[in-house]
Order: sequence, then structure tokens, then C-alpha cells
Amino acid sequence: MLEPLHPLLKRAYDPDRFAQLGEEVLRDVVEHLKMAQSQERARSMPWTNPEAEMVHWSDRLERPEGLVPLLKEVMERSNSLHDPRYMGHQVAVPFPEGGLVGLVTDVLNNGGAIYEMGPTNSAMEEVLMAKIGQMLGLPEGCGGVMCHGGTLANLVALLAARRSAGGEAEDVWERGDDGKGGILVSDQAHYCVDRAVRTMGWGREGVGLVPTDAAHSMTRKGLDQAFDAMVEKGRRVVAVVGSACTTSSGAYDDLEMIADFAEQRGIWFHVDGAHGAPAAFSKKHAHLVAGMDRADSVAMDFHKIMGVPALCTGLFYRQHEMGFLPFTQSAEYLWSDAEDPEWWNFGKRTFECTKRMLSTRVAAVLEEYGPEIWGVLVDRLFELGQALAERVRARQNRGWELAMSPQANIVCFRLVPTGTMGEEEANDFTKKLRQAHLEQGPQYVVQTRFGGRVWLRCTLMNPLTELSDLDAMLDRFEALAENGWRT
Ligand SMILES: Cc1ncc(COP(=O)(O)O)c(C=O)c1O
Repeated sequence: MLEPLHPLLKRAYDPDRFAQLGEEVLRDVVEHLKMAQSQERARSMPWTNPEAEMVHWSDRLERPEGLVPLLKEVMERSNSLHDPRYMGHQVAVPFPEGGLVGLVTDVLNNGGAIYEMGPTNSAMEEVLMAKIGQMLGLPEGCGGVMCHGGTLANLVALLAARRSAGGEAEDVWERGDDGKGGILVSDQAHYCVDRAVRTMGWGREGVGLVPTDAAHSMTRKGLDQAFDAMVEKGRRVVAVVGSACTTSSGAYDDLEMIADFAEQRGIWFHVDGAHGAPAAFSKKHAHLVAGMDRADSVAMDFHKIMGVPALCTGLFYRQHEMGFLPFTQSAEYLWSDAEDPEWWNFGKRTFECTKRMLSTRVAAVLEEYGPEIWGVLVDRLFELGQALAERVRARQNRGWELAMSPQANIVCFRLVPTGTMGEEEANDFTKKLRQAHLEQGPQYVVQTRFGGRVWLRCTLMNPLTELSDLDAMLDRFEALAENGWRT
């Protein structure tokens, strides 16, 4: 005999209780949004040192107070991305209704490994990937999969590239890898490309780093030299990865040039457009991704400059069937024929087995606003990037330096007030300045290093940021520098 349902389970599944909690939580989320957007919190990133934060939570989690107070505290202690002073990392400031989509899809919790787990999200994914692929310029017949993050999308694209190389490589799934493959990528590329290659068993030598020019883009000469050097070392170069754009400085590779190179060398052309591929939706900035239409594969994060909550990535292939290259696996409990290219069983094409209902998140944006909103968002964020660069230039006489003219919404700059500092001293100064700012705010700005120099780095992700916020941020750094790191 089955015991009666435990009161805890009864409570957990009670729809009326859920409705009551929902009302309270929604009220708090709206309050959080209002406070963030009107900059009512002291800081956009409420810095505490990691040890202190852990002590706080070790103590707090010993005293459960219930869902509503817990979520309220999480909101108070977390980064407020909707605060216009948040200018840090490349995560979307999500359109808040993404939270409502999350509410519905989290409750439904349909998986995406096979059609039967989630018929609606599977079919929507198939439709959307072809449709959006064509918006990116890929030809009719393109397709793809949605996955959890650009890191995973880049790995899966390179697995497809490896398999497409033909010959022995084609049999890699059965026989394993000979460790002799390799790819070419910019020395400014995101670290996940290097990680993917090493994960594939090709080691450090499998990554042919292509030097970049003053604008941080790969050159044809650099590509040719890197290709020849790889071949000389006995490497089989299977792919070239173009960055659209790079992470540190937001520089776009010349994708037309790379497409020509890939065509002439007979290798796979992958575009890591995790951050910057959405430029394709903007009339003003689409030129930055000219040539992406010739790629074999493109990775694009909906959770960066497309307003969708993380994680939500599209991996697009120039031909739908390329999506079956990475994996060929039997799984009798899920599908019967590993070789059968059934589009509806996404597990055949994705690294993940269960995945979230990602297509609903993207469909919701299109349903509510259409793809125009992505162009409008890109325009606004890139315009903010230009505006910040102009402001840094205008303050040159106070010791501000711009690393390069921004192409996107990523701007690198630094303040070296005395003009007499050596490189190491200037780097040290920038690190201390940024640390002081991190601890005291109120804005949030990150740090990077390239060309031997440490830079402050802003990624302008919030369309609600205004010029006055940019001025206030630069003023704040000047005040910290003048007052010995404290104000
Ligand atoms: C160019 C580029 N590629 C890949 C990634 C990794 O993407 P994700 O964080 O979605 O795994 C990033 C993240 O910032 C990126 O900027």
C-alpha cells in the first residue's frame, strides 16, 4: 500500500500556494528593477570579498527563512545588471519578460534531447534556427541547434569541422583521434577556442595562434604563415575561426578575407560570433560581419547583446545536415537508429542530453518585438561604445588613453595621470585603481590586459545607460586616483 502523500510534497505542489508566492516574488522583482534602473542602490555591483561572502552564506543558510526572503536577499546582494552603472561583463541585461518565459518553461520543464520530451520546443527550435540563420546571411537550407553557451557551441562546431575534413578524420568517432589536427585562430580570441582544441586532444600545438594587426584583427599574411607553420609541424589544419568580435577589445576579424582563405585552403570556416554576430541585425553595423554568410558554422549567444537571459546560444550551420557531423551515437532508450538524421531528436546533434526550453526564450522576443529589437539594441549599445571612446579622447590632457577605436560596445582605456610612469608602474597603477573602484563603486568596470598593458574595460550592455553615466564613471576614476584610492 502506498503511504498518503507527505505534507511536504503536498505543500510543494500546491498551485494556490504557488500563486501566492508568485505574487510576492513578482512584486519584489518589479521593485528590484525599479531600484536598479533608477540607481537607488549604492552600487551596481555590491562587492564583498569572497571569504566574507562565503561566511555570510554559511551562516545565513543555517537559518532558513523561506523562499520570499531568500530571493529578496539574493536580489539585494547580487549584481544589478539593470542598473545603468553596470558596465562590466558581456551578459545580457535581459528584457525582463524573459523572466516570465523562464517561469513558464521552468514549470513545464520539457527536455530537449528527443522530440517526445518536448515536442513544442523541438519544433520551434528547428524553425527558428533556419529562420535566424538566414537572417545572419546563411543560405536557404541552413539550420542548427540551440545549446547552453558559446563555449559549448564553439566546441561542437570544431567537432563538426574535424569530422568534415574527410579521410581518416571522418572515422574519428570510432577510432579516436591521432592528435595531429589543428585549427587557426586569432591571438585575441576567447579562451574557449583554445580549451575546445585541447579538449579534442590536439594539445597546445593544435592551436595555431594568428598574430593580429594594430586593430586586433587577423591578416591574410598572418593566416598564411600560421597555416604553413602548422603543416610544417605535421599538423592537419581542419578549420579557421574568425572572431566576431574578440572578447578583450571587441575587434572584428575581416570575415570576407577569412572566407577566401578557408575556401582556398579547403578548410572549415567557423565564426565565433558569440558576442558580436548580432551586428547582422543592424543596418548601421552589418558591414562588420560581411563574409559571415560564407561561414560553415556560426556561434551566436542570445544571452549577450540580444536581451535573452543566460544561457541561450545558437549554433548555425550553412547546411542543415552538417549538424549531424559531431556525434553518431546509439542510445536505445532515446532513439533507435544512430545514423538516421531525424531533425526532431535534437540529442543527435547536441552535446547536452536534457536541455532547457531554449527556443521558447527566443520565440518570445520575436513574438513580442520582432527581430527589429536586436538591430535597435545593437545600435544603441555600439553608439554608447563610440560615445565613451569620444569622452576618453576628450580627457586626454588629464591622462586618459584609449586602447583603440571601438568597433562594438567594448571599450578599453586607462588613466595614467602623471605621464612619467613606466609601463610596469602604469600597469600597477591601473590594477590598483580598478580594485579601489571595484570595492567602492558605484559603477562596475572590469580589467583586461593586452599589448603588455593593463586596461580598464567597459562592455556597455545596458541600453538604459546615458552619457551622464559615462561621465560620472570617468569622474569617479579621476577622483579615486586623486584621493589615493578612497573618496
Ligand atoms: C567571443 C566569445 N566567444 C565565446 C565566449 C564564451 O561564451 P559563453 O560565455 O556563452 O560560454 C565569449 C564570452 O564572453 C566570447 O566573448
